[in-house]
Amino acid sequence: MQVILSQIGNCILRRCELGDLIPVMEINLQTLPEHYSDYFYESLLEELPEAFIVAEINGKVIGYVMCKTEYGFSNFKKLGFVKKGHVVSIAVLEQHRGKGIGTVLVNESLKGVKMKQCGEMYLEVRCSNNDAVKLYERLGFAILQRPKSYYRDGEDAFLMAIDFTS
Ligand code: ACO
Ligand code: ZN
Repeated sequence: MQVILSQIGNCILRRCELGDLIPVMEINLQTLPEHYSDYFYESLLEELPEAFIVAEINGKVIGYVMCKTEYGFSNFKKLGFVKKGHVVSIAVLEQHRGKGIGTVLVNESLKGVKMKQCGEMYLEVRCSNNDAVKLYERLGFAILQRPKSYYRDGEDAFLMAIDFTS
């Protein structure tokens, strides 16, 4: 049975299933220059289904967010070693943007990583990606670092993170 996590207009959010991976990969190919192997999508779905969410309109997947968990140094606590959520990729098809779907996708992924006892969540985003940076800031993410030439084409990233413990 599919559980609807949230609804925004005629768009529902639910956990991703194996059968959604092809449309998810197609959306990724259309919207972002960073692509991944089939195996990588499957492994994220297996590892963290709580934070692999799709947005669907009339039975068609139009957006996704996928995450993983990692153990590492905290982005907030000096010398702290923590379990962190990592937003690997999020996208909404262009014709469905600006309606709040990206915001609810990130919100649901935050809930998902909290279920896995993560103390914080982080992501990288292109410095030029104003819409995405603003969306993350509105949700409470802060820009903490600027990894130089993070992307293959040489663009810098912003490393943004949110602390669940403060
Ligand atoms: N198109 C795009 N942005 C718009 C539009 C529109 N038609 N209209 C308004 N916006 C602005 C607004 O500022 C809006 O914020 P508001 O709520 O204050 O008005 C904001 O963009 C978009 O917020 P949402 O509607 O919640 O998000 P959306 O569903 O448009 O999805 C996303 C945002 C996922 C970043 C989308 O733009 C996208 O898929 N972009 C291409 C892929 C991408 O860049 N992904 C992020 C890469 S970083 C990473 O994956 C970790
Ligand atoms: Zn990343």
